[in-house]
Amino acid sequence: MTSNMFSSFYKDIGIDLGTTKTIIYTKGRGIVINEPSVVAINNKTDQILAVGTEARDMLGKTPEHITAVKPIVNGVISDFEVTEKMLRYFFDKLNEKFSAASLFNWPRVVVGIPFGGTEVEKRAVEDVIHNAGARKVYLVENPVAVAIGARLPINEPTGHLVVDIGGGTTEVAIVSLNGIVVAKSLRVAGNKLNDDIIYYIRDEFKLAIGEQTAEQLKINLGSARDMAGHQEMVVRGRDLSRGLPKEIKVDESEIREAISTSVRAIVETIKGVIEITPPELVSDIMSGSILLSGGTSLLRGLDKLIQDETGIPVKIIEDPLTAVARGTGIILENFNAYKLLLVDLKREQPPV
Ligand SMILES: Nc1ncnc2c1ncn2[C@@H]1O[C@H](COP(=O)(O)OP(=O)(O)OP(=O)(O)O)[C@@H](O)[C@H]1O
Ligand SMILES: [Mg+2]
Repeated sequence: MTSNMFSSFYKDIGIDLGTTKTIIYTKGRGIVINEPSVVAINNKTDQILAVGTEARDMLGKTPEHITAVKPIVNGVISDFEVTEKMLRYFFDKLNEKFSAASLFNWPRVVVGIPFGGTEVEKRAVEDVIHNAGARKVYLVENPVAVAIGARLPINEPTGHLVVDIGGGTTEVAIVSLNGIVVAKSLRVAGNKLNDDIIYYIRDEFKLAIGEQTAEQLKINLGSARDMAGHQEMVVRGRDLSRGLPKEIKVDESEIREAISTSVRAIVETIKGVIEITPPELVSDIMSGSILLSGGTSLLRGLDKLIQDETGIPVKIIEDPLTAVARGTGIILENFNAYKLLLVDLKREQPPV
């Protein structure tokens, strides 16, 4: 692979470098990559064996010499080298797919970053994308990207409450006049719910289950409040006392209980932001609605729970998993209108 793989033709690229998923948008084509942020590596040779869906399917099933790495943790790059390799792989894939369009040089990139990240974290995102060949990297805070992705008129002096509940983080922000007025972020989201389920099944059933089983339990049975259903699911794992395989039946009320503390933390964070919102903006929020995005916003009953707890109508935005990426795409397509809300890292020189 060359170091400037994607510089050969992409002029403008939007990226959501998420804890669980990496989504890439190219101007004119829309979403072209939507894959898990996972890389499988051979420890002995340092070689990449698989990226994305293929690597995700290896999680928890690898022999000793293979590691499946998730390089983004709670929205932040935790393994720089692996993130770079993962992006290069995706860019490579794009080159193969669209090689006929080899027209542009040195792309401009808009990438979503978590609200309230440190300078070091922002620099890491910038560097990793520069290393892959970008001419210019612009950062946009995820809640702002979500608001743009949802086509909210954020240039107006009206407050919008945006809640992005992803895999690693929950970001709650009031957006008005092209910026964030107040916000809070919490490292509790979809991954934490999976961990809660793993611990619950271990404590209550003395059964060890893997992450993918926990994810299935959450998607199939998970709910934020009583849904008047009695669905069950059979799961298999290892009996912790005997060490042998065992099968159990799990009920949806058990999963609800398992994740209830984390769900409560998410709701309290939203209430906490409303409490510190200036009064004029609270009035805007009350006459509008709370907008939910991110995969975990699809947890059954979470929208209604937030609505009941805050007294404000709640809407899940259309296609909530791709909101950040679509937001970066809309920014690219209307660059001049939005450039002031981007964090410009002022590095014009292409990397060597
Ligand atoms: N129907 C569903 N019910 C509950 N959770 C869901 C559902 N669909 C997806 N999820 C969860 O959504 C999460 C992924 O959401 P998303 O793609 O928005 O996260 P991300 O952008 O990768 O993470 P982050 O924004 O925290 O960095 C996963 O934890 C996944 O289990
Ligand atoms: Mg996200």
